[in-house]
Amino acid sequence: TDRYCVFGNPISHSKSPAIHAAFAAQTGEVMEYTAIAAPLDDFTGAWRRFTAEGGRGSNVTVPFKEEAFRLCDTLSQRAQRAGAVNTLVLGKNGLTYGDTTDGIGLVRDLARHGVNLAGARILVLGAGGAVRGVLEPLLAAGPLSVRIANRTAAKAAALAQDFTDLGEVHGGGFDAVSGPFDLVINGTSASLAGDLPPLPDDLFAIGATAYDMMYGAEPTVFLRWAEARGARTVDGLGMLVEQAAESFFQWRGKRPDTEPVLAELRRSL
Ligand code: ATR
Repeated sequence: TDRYCVFGNPISHSKSPAIHAAFAAQTGEVMEYTAIAAPLDDFTGAWRRFTAEGGRGSNVTVPFKEEAFRLCDTLSQRAQRAGAVNTLVLGKNGLTYGDTTDGIGLVRDLARHGVNLAGARILVLGAGGAVRGVLEPLLAAGPLSVRIANRTAAKAAALAQDFTDLGEVHGGGFDAVSGPFDLVINGTSASLAGDLPPLPDDLFAIGATAYDMMYGAEPTVFLRWAEARGARTVDGLGMLVEQAAESFFQWRGKRPDTEPVLAELRRSL
């Protein structure tokens, strides 16, 4: 049986094993997919051991995405830009290939929700790894404009600078934000602390969508705030399933139907 896994630390609450088991059942692929807690100081060793024992590929989550990036022999272009990988593939030649499927997952989930990206005015909150990982696929869906706003303004400005060759993208602090926007994506980890970035009330254009990369049984603080201001709200559960589907495709060459898997996952929250 071909073996796959997700590496993280902690990892016990990961939904990836259930998602990939559903994909495998649906497509008739015979494979095993487990969750492995890699040691914080030796992700590379964990990946080498896994492949030595027959592992063919893995997902990578917090806090190993950058170390996974560094161990790769070859990288997709979007992974090079992101400086992080969430998908490892062991090639037939024994070399490790890395990709990041988070951005394509976000773009596919937005499409599934009928969000029109062509010409959209987009605000992205946050300038950490999660945001860096999605910018290239987002800008590729354009022409569109992206404003990145972050607590640490200089980080947003520097991040925007790294992507200006791909489209219209600017960065700064929250105080520099002025709407309206057609799409506001929360890529900060502020929700985890129950915090809300300081944002103006007139942020949303008519018909705008608020998207939180986080998800949970209850709407995040950001989504509750956005709903009260008239935006349509979407959480990141669909992005999770779509990034998994793209990883699955890279390993198995088959595209699972994400809809029933997402519906089941939603019920289980
Ligand atoms: P991730 O991999 O989730 O992106 P990260 O790289 O540590 O993690 O980035 C976290 C992001 O959330 C950053 O943009 C951070 O803002 P700073 O760059 O100013 O630190 C943002 N963030 C975290 N907690 C926040 C809070 N309470 N309010 C606003 N922004 C917050």
